[in-house]
Amino acid sequence: MTPNPAPPTIHVFGSLNMDLVCRTPRLPQPGETILGTHFETLPGGKGANQAVAAARLGASTAMVGRVGEDDFGRQLIQGLQQAGVEARGVAMDAGAPTGVAAIAVDEAGRNTIVVVPGANGRVGDDDIDRLATRLRPGDLVLLQFEVPLLAVMAAAKAAKAQGARVIVDPAPARDDLPAEFFKTVDILTPNQIEVSQITGLSVTDIPTATEAGRQLVQRGVAIAIVKLGELGAVVAAGDRTFHQPALPVKAVDTVAAGDAFNGGLAAALAEAMDLEAAVEFASAVAAASVMVPGAQSSMPERSQVAALGRDLKHC
Ligand code: RIB
Repeated sequence: MTPNPAPPTIHVFGSLNMDLVCRTPRLPQPGETILGTHFETLPGGKGANQAVAAARLGASTAMVGRVGEDDFGRQLIQGLQQAGVEARGVAMDAGAPTGVAAIAVDEAGRNTIVVVPGANGRVGDDDIDRLATRLRPGDLVLLQFEVPLLAVMAAAKAAKAQGARVIVDPAPARDDLPAEFFKTVDILTPNQIEVSQITGLSVTDIPTATEAGRQLVQRGVAIAIVKLGELGAVVAAGDRTFHQPALPVKAVDTVAAGDAFNGGLAAALAEAMDLEAAVEFASAVAAASVMVPGAQSSMPERSQVAALGRDLKHC
């Protein structure tokens, strides 16, 4: 395999959604109607959010995915381009509308999200071909679960075949992952809910997250990073485990904090930071993102991460 002389490209293969965001004093109970205070449409989708996060930090970033032939789709592609993401791999599909996410955010910055995949649900062979032709050894491929699982698995295989590294954010959570999937993953980054669903353990704190991370490594992932929000992140790699504390910030909106983490992690690894440094940097990116409303709109510039992480070693 020929070595890649250029800096690695981060390829994001995944979803693009228009986020329909309602701000509310508190999140509604099932069956309850409450009055919100504010409504906005904002670019989102876990895939596109991760792409914007990486590009805003200065990484060479490209996106492969699908939107409908509609205004939301056009706006999402334009937003990616404005953030510096190469978006020629995003197809406009006449067969389905652009994906949307109905999001409620309360005054503490917590959220609930319902995603209707639309065109994201039609991601398949053509998209995998577009990804495969772009990959070079040493590149990074970022995957999530808002496009069909078969496509995610095929993209991971294509990435491994080209010598690219695979980072999977297993969100939204699912408990039906086949055993062979884990062996194609270099880094798996579940949050508390996702890791509980995948392992069957009840993950509530750092010790249980460490145990779950170890189990993921035993299943075949090279590195597991369990994202615990305010509790930081727990990393399991081979026989080693460590904890990265979260930066103490005032959260106004936690939507896409996990995406900010993954985009930051990929950007750091593309700059050849080691694992500890990359996780510390990713945590600072996530912390910066929760201080600003929205998904892509909250992804920080490099200078904001540096200011927030000025007491850390690697920001
Ligand atoms: O991770 C946050 C994202 O989840 C939102 O932008 C929404 O589109 C859903 O995909």
